[in-house]
Amino acid sequence: MSEKRGFAAIPQSSPGRDYRGHQAEIDAAVRRTLDSGWYILGNEVRAFEAEFSAYLGLGEGVGVGNGTDAVELSLRALGVGPGDAVYTVSHTAVATVVGVERTGATPVLVDVDEATYTMDPASLAEAIAADPRPGGSRPKAVVVVHLYGQIADMTEIMRIARAAGLLVVEDCAQAHGARHDGRIAGTWGDIAAFSFYPTKNLGALGDGGLVATDDASLAARVRELRQYGWRDRYVSAVPGMNSRLDEVQAAILRAKLPYLDEDNARRRTIAARYDSGLGESAVGIPAVTQGVEHAFHQYVVRSSHREALMASLRDRDISTAIHYPVPVHLQPAYAGRLPQPAGLAVTERVVSEIVSLPMFPSLSDEEVERVIQAVLEWANSAPRMAAGLERPS
Ligand SMILES: Cc1ncc(COP(=O)(O)O)c(C=O)c1O
Repeated sequence: MSEKRGFAAIPQSSPGRDYRGHQAEIDAAVRRTLDSGWYILGNEVRAFEAEFSAYLGLGEGVGVGNGTDAVELSLRALGVGPGDAVYTVSHTAVATVVGVERTGATPVLVDVDEATYTMDPASLAEAIAADPRPGGSRPKAVVVVHLYGQIADMTEIMRIARAAGLLVVEDCAQAHGARHDGRIAGTWGDIAAFSFYPTKNLGALGDGGLVATDDASLAARVRELRQYGWRDRYVSAVPGMNSRLDEVQAAILRAKLPYLDEDNARRRTIAARYDSGLGESAVGIPAVTQGVEHAFHQYVVRSSHREALMASLRDRDISTAIHYPVPVHLQPAYAGRLPQPAGLAVTERVVSEIVSLPMFPSLSDEEVERVIQAVLEWANSAPRMAAGLERPS
């Protein structure tokens, strides 16, 4: 409880609280796995792979160590490697670009759409046309990120990618269960990478990831690569790595998967309440593309006075976060060395204005109202500041 106001603090995300919501089932799943005596690549992983790929409506799922590895392994299964160029966005978790670079390929960064924060198809097309050999490498694939739970414009992106002969990976780390015209994230491209980091819409209680595809030969390649390149036990057919989803995490994910759609519906209810509470305020609310069932991994608002808004909410014991404050191309590890043939003007603008409000399924209605009131109070008590705020176009 806050000393100041007598309210409990509101976190921005709370995997611990979400766990307690399903504690009995998760604890039973962990106990069952511990009692089984089998901890790596056993029945739990096999069952989860089958259940999650069935949820997606895809033929194959391969459990891996985390989402970063899922991006790398998806690309490696597609044959991406040194000398290749892979188009992706700079406005993403750095993990997307880490996964691309670990294949030996060159990440080529393109801009995002101002309203949806996902890959701008026009920027992709411009980048492809502007430089046929970005960084001296041969264009091979696109990694699309369904950021914050919103599906990117896959119809356009697939059209542009196919016309240029590019393969497509969907980074679905933030979009478990999101749909566009009923078609679920992960089923648009050639292969899809998922993360089960604890705060994700489907989160483990540790690290976890999965590669999903309808192509059995791609899945077989990921299965080899995730375990030392083994085709047969103890015999490496290709140089591989160790990136296995473990049995305990798979069992936990099996316990939580039946609640994913319900949890996403709760996220959408919270988002709808934020929309109606904040829609008339000076803070920009998220745009949802027509036909998209947003998974609201994050609820991201926009203000040119973001720091003041965050400080005011912090003062009321409400946590916020910025996803992400520094785009990949401006981070010390990457600055000045990744091609960006179409420019990144929108990315550089949005990163200074975005802020993620509290968003997780076990956030209570009362807490949502407190967040709304806090934002409105801030906007009203800073009229000069608020007058200068602009909603994103
Ligand atoms: C868009 C995106 N891609 C990839 C990842 C990487 O996932 P992980 O942290 O499981 O490696 C994350 C999560 O951090 C993410 O948000």
